[in-house]
Amino acid sequence: MVAKGRKPRSLKEALKGKLSKKELSELVTSFDVIGSIAVIEIPDSLLKKKKTIAKALMQANTHIKTVARIKGKHSGKFRVRPVEIIAGKKTTLTEHKEHGCRFKVQVGKMFFSPRLSHERERIAKLIRKGEVVGAFFAGVGPFPIVFAKHSPMKKAHAIELNPIAYMFLKENIALNKCTHRIQPILGDVKKIAPKLKGKCNRIVMPLPKGGEHFLDSAFIAAASNCVVHFYQFGPRDSPYKEALAKIKTTAKKFNRKTRVIRKKRVRSFSPKTIQVVIDFKIY
Ligand SMILES: C[S@@+](CC[C@H](N)C(=O)[O-])C[C@H]1O[C@@H](n2cnc3c(N)ncnc32)[C@H](O)[C@@H]1O
Repeated sequence: MVAKGRKPRSLKEALKGKLSKKELSELVTSFDVIGSIAVIEIPDSLLKKKKTIAKALMQANTHIKTVARIKGKHSGKFRVRPVEIIAGKKTTLTEHKEHGCRFKVQVGKMFFSPRLSHERERIAKLIRKGEVVGAFFAGVGPFPIVFAKHSPMKKAHAIELNPIAYMFLKENIALNKCTHRIQPILGDVKKIAPKLKGKCNRIVMPLPKGGEHFLDSAFIAAASNCVVHFYQFGPRDSPYKEALAKIKTTAKKFNRKTRVIRKKRVRSFSPKTIQVVIDFKIY
């Protein structure tokens, strides 16, 4: 039990005495925080205790104003994950802060992951003065907006298919005062890429599930010496093999030379799968 008046140090500590030992062992203790909303996974076996868990989470993390439970996996072409509010303020709308930027997000209606924040910062540091960036699969804009704030890029073309995410993308560009450096585009990367033919010095492809079907678009939009950041899911024991083969096949199709600059594990996704990124150059 937590001493009266003291804030519990963790979710587990806040739940001592409220959940049995067995229930505590089934608890998923990690969760995402998007703005003031905690997004948490609750195993089926603990669903009857969901309100107790959510209240304990808010007790241990006083900056959290809403707790939302994940109701399903990221799915569909918009990569949206359904959620249910189980405690706190009844809203899915929030503002997330990252690297000095502000992102309005509606949890459950569009994709947003705070787990890619290191990648945004890493790429921003690589961007050189005057670069034109193709920000494919832009979502609410975290990649291009962090680039606009923290790199000397000339311009980013931010392409997003989900009309609701696109509305937030436009709003976030204005909120961060980067309207002169980011062009938001509502549409399918496959249809937009030919309009950017040969124009991009750098392309980010943060669509790990299915992004391989858009490699053609990257080769079309790439200027010579373009750097592509290609995200994929892969098996833990050999995560790069398939992605590298796909790059090779596409390069052959477009008769262009490529060189891999870096391969990197980004994050664990499931016991058997990890997310990786391959940075490669198209000559
Ligand atoms: C994994 S999310 C990444 C979003 C954002 N870059 C982020 O990191 O928060 C992929 C995004 O690509 C969008 N998308 C999926 N297919 C697309 C396509 N063919 N053309 C443009 N955007 C697409 C989805 O709606 C989703 O917002």
